[in-house]
Amino acid sequence: PRRGAAGDFDALIAAEQRIEPRDAMPQDYRQTLIRQIAQHAHSEIIGMQPEGNWISRAPSLRRKAILMAKVQDEAGHGLYLYSAAETLGVDRSELLDKLHTGKQKYSSIFNYPTLTWADVGAIGWLVDGAAIMNQVPLCRCSYGPYARAMIRVCKEESFHQRQGFEILWTLARGTDAQRAMAQDAADRWWWPALMMFGPPDSGEAATSGHTAQSMAWGIKRFSNDDLRQKFVDMTVPQADKLGLVLPDPDLRWNEERGHYDFGEIDWDEFWRVLKGDGACNSQRMAHRVGAHEEGAWVREAATAYAGKQAERAKG
Ligand code: ACO
Repeated sequence: PRRGAAGDFDALIAAEQRIEPRDAMPQDYRQTLIRQIAQHAHSEIIGMQPEGNWISRAPSLRRKAILMAKVQDEAGHGLYLYSAAETLGVDRSELLDKLHTGKQKYSSIFNYPTLTWADVGAIGWLVDGAAIMNQVPLCRCSYGPYARAMIRVCKEESFHQRQGFEILWTLARGTDAQRAMAQDAADRWWWPALMMFGPPDSGEAATSGHTAQSMAWGIKRFSNDDLRQKFVDMTVPQADKLGLVLPDPDLRWNEERGHYDFGEIDWDEFWRVLKGDGACNSQRMAHRVGAHEEGAWVREAATAYAGKQAERAKG
């Protein structure tokens, strides 16, 4: 297909080719991507907080070094994603304003507290595990800059997932108290991790409004429920290996479906957290806004420096 003229978008999508920043694209496609990529970027930087909470208390120097590197990776993911969003014609400062004023969302998962060291393990294992399941298909997203950013993000997330598994593996083979701590973390993170995939595809409660259109555009490759099922199927055997019990009495292998059945998700809790009423929403936002305000001098200095460089180049 050709590029550039208005009608070419559909042909490029039909041919499974990438849409690039200078290609013509429907306004709604652009807006959907800005919403999703911005929400994704915000999640990466807000996601630094629950784990950052444990950097000073990691149980050894080795664990501390790993956790610092991991939290720094999340900042990097935020940067790639804000850059990808900027190729759609928005400005990073505009997106941050929308985060700070509650006009754009970040992932529900980061509104839960990290109460013990085992939570750092559970975040790596379950939260990053869910993130990978959701993000690997995004490497094939129809929008080029987003798809390319996802490749490196997914590689780093796989490393994060394994470090979380390894933390829990160690605790699960430790003292009774350490084993109990690992189990308690799995109990608290399992259901929120399932909610990360977003509302169900169908049913009586509120469902996913964007999936059908996003799949037609090749932004999403699988529905929320399909990815959630893949995640459950991948994770149950891992829990068995760890010797941890997932907190769902309805979880069992269904021979006929070739998948694990699982219990009802508390969607009221999900929507409550999205509306701002999770355990840590106000804490996360206050911390983020505070960090942004305290960092104003860095932005001012960088802008002044860039201005000076531009002046010198002119003259
Ligand atoms: N947390 C917060 N909001 C969510 C979540 C969630 N876990 N899941 C869905 N939503 C929001 C959607 O943004 C949408 O909001 P809107 O009505 O204001 O537009 C609404 O709930 C309905 O959901 P969907 O129609 O299913 O929305 P969408 O098609 O965007 O699918 C999904 C949601 C699967 C999260 C998608 O946006 C996506 O794949 N995003 C990229 C991955 C990502 O953001 N990951 C961040 C967490 S992982 C990490 O950072 C470690």
